[in-house]
Amino acid sequence: MFTKRYFDKTADGQSVFLFENSNSNGIKVQILSYGGTVVSLQVPDRQGKIRDVVLGYDTLKSYENQDKYLGALVGRCANRIGGSCFSISGKRYLLSSNENKNHLHGGMTGFDKKIWADQIEGENLILSYLSPHGEEGYPGTLTTKVTYSLSEQNELCITYEAVSDLDTVVSLTNHCYFNLNGHDSGKIEGHFLKINGDQITPVNREMISLGTSLPVADSPFDFREFHPIGERIHDTHEQLRIGGGYDHNYILNGQGMRLAAELMGDESKIKMLVYTDMDGMQLYTGNFLKGAPAGKNGAVYQNRDAVCLETQFLPNAVNCPDFPSPILRAGENYHRQTIYRFETIE
Ligand code: BGC
Repeated sequence: MFTKRYFDKTADGQSVFLFENSNSNGIKVQILSYGGTVVSLQVPDRQGKIRDVVLGYDTLKSYENQDKYLGALVGRCANRIGGSCFSISGKRYLLSSNENKNHLHGGMTGFDKKIWADQIEGENLILSYLSPHGEEGYPGTLTTKVTYSLSEQNELCITYEAVSDLDTVVSLTNHCYFNLNGHDSGKIEGHFLKINGDQITPVNREMISLGTSLPVADSPFDFREFHPIGERIHDTHEQLRIGGGYDHNYILNGQGMRLAAELMGDESKIKMLVYTDMDGMQLYTGNFLKGAPAGKNGAVYQNRDAVCLETQFLPNAVNCPDFPSPILRAGENYHRQTIYRFETIE
């Protein structure tokens, strides 16, 4: 059962709460109503030692003063929208630009910086946010509901629901930075990763997807079998140079709820399995982590100290006719799910 306690006030005086739940296997999760942020996720390793496997901060002020999206819910639309604009049914919408002339992760004040209303129902923490029509340029009033639950099967399950009164764009994700050896244990280059995707969506120099796909075969992007993340990260592949490492979306094979990725901590022997019903997953190896405020217990996070596996629609899909559409029609129900399951290996 989730418990709730007061955490702190935002700079503009709003109260923020911390929610906590644990299961009988020793997994414990802490989530803030600020950004629906996963602050900590404690998981027992192979030896039974508890490791906090997500990066985070001790204070609300640090969360407010950073732009790395640590642990946060991201919306209305995860990833980049090129030129900060799109059209729906011939009507053009201009979004806020927060990365040069492009729109990233929902804009200037995305869902990661909102205070979410809360409701606890047994093992479920239900967070809601009402995004007004025109917020960051998006059409339609969007009622958003995100449910976090922690199961006895060691699954942190995130269910995303939304409904809008006008046609709009929605692609919600969570931006946890994982380090399965522990948030303060340095680089993730030794973590083993496997991704169920035959293709990525390449990006231009501004990191905008142009609606094309690139087979991963014979490239450093091929994670169809386990590879250490750092094994090929310094390859001269043009896409790796553009991203400063991996910062690319995989087109996940198959449809419906399926295994998207497996990540293994080389020291902890903790394995995380990611299941989702989304089309894509961004692999981001924390290439720009440096410069974040000091983390939990004073940890100083450096580039590559964590990896994000962000399930989402394909990037810039609203402007890419060949990608499945991320448009949510008025009155339609958005319902998507991602599950992070934890195990240990020999
Ligand atoms: C993006 C990165 C970005 C990071 C933090 C990731 O989802 O792919 O390019 O730097 O979020 O903003």
